[in-house]
Amino acid sequence: MDEYLNQGIKDVIRQFPEVGDILNEYDIGCVPCAVGTCLLKDIIDIHNVPPDEERELMARISGAVHPDQAPAAPGIERKPRPSPKQSYSPPMQKLVDEHTLIKRLVALIPQIMEHLDVESEEGRQIVIDGVDFIRSYADRYHHAKEEDILLKYFDEGLEIIKTIYEDHETGRAHVRATLQALEDGDKEAVREHLDAYRELLTEHIEKEDGILYPWMDRSLSMTQIGELYARFNAKDEGFGDAPKKYQALINRLEQEFAQKEAVR
Ligand SMILES: [Fe+2]
Ligand SMILES: [Fe+2]
Repeated sequence: MDEYLNQGIKDVIRQFPEVGDILNEYDIGCVPCAVGTCLLKDIIDIHNVPPDEERELMARISGAVHPDQAPAAPGIERKPRPSPKQSYSPPMQKLVDEHTLIKRLVALIPQIMEHLDVESEEGRQIVIDGVDFIRSYADRYHHAKEEDILLKYFDEGLEIIKTIYEDHETGRAHVRATLQALEDGDKEAVREHLDAYRELLTEHIEKEDGILYPWMDRSLSMTQIGELYARFNAKDEGFGDAPKKYQALINRLEQEFAQKEAVR
């Protein structure tokens, strides 16, 4: 069993498909997960499986990979779990709160796509405003805090950390492509890249809120958490009133689209 603990979960599932079914029963979505290179032993820690379920889960996985042997439940070294209810440390809560505003922009994308007008200046301006939010608030303000500060506390060779960087880069590529398509007057391509960005960010934020941040909270020391909070605050100071400006932009866009819906 120990040999499988150090294997990528997708490889284990490929060899023993039943392992994917077992993980699904514990709400650990390794089968549909786009990453899938986490090691089997890290799954328990990253997904924070409660200790009582851990023994049972590992015994079942052991039974699936060694059906001819008596079930064994290898112990996995895990970080302490602060509380059964999901809560975040102050710096992580700050990032979760920033996600709330980013999710409001993401929720507007279907309406932006539906009313898309690349011919008029007013129509193009809505896309430009959305892209300005993504580049300034989501990327320079929020993602930069993750990349320049938070992720530096962790081994950048870990698959989950590499995935976060890759998601940010993929998002930037969709934003560049959206602007290019807008310049070319290519409505379909604008739609395609905005929709791809919506899908990417939805999954990315779920991954961070549900898996990455809780795992990071369990991994960081109290001193590191305090340091992180101070460094986030220092970074915020450099942005002055910009977050308020982007909050106002989202409020305005929501109102504009609500009015468009009301007159239909
Ligand atoms: Fe991120
Ligand atoms: Fe984030």
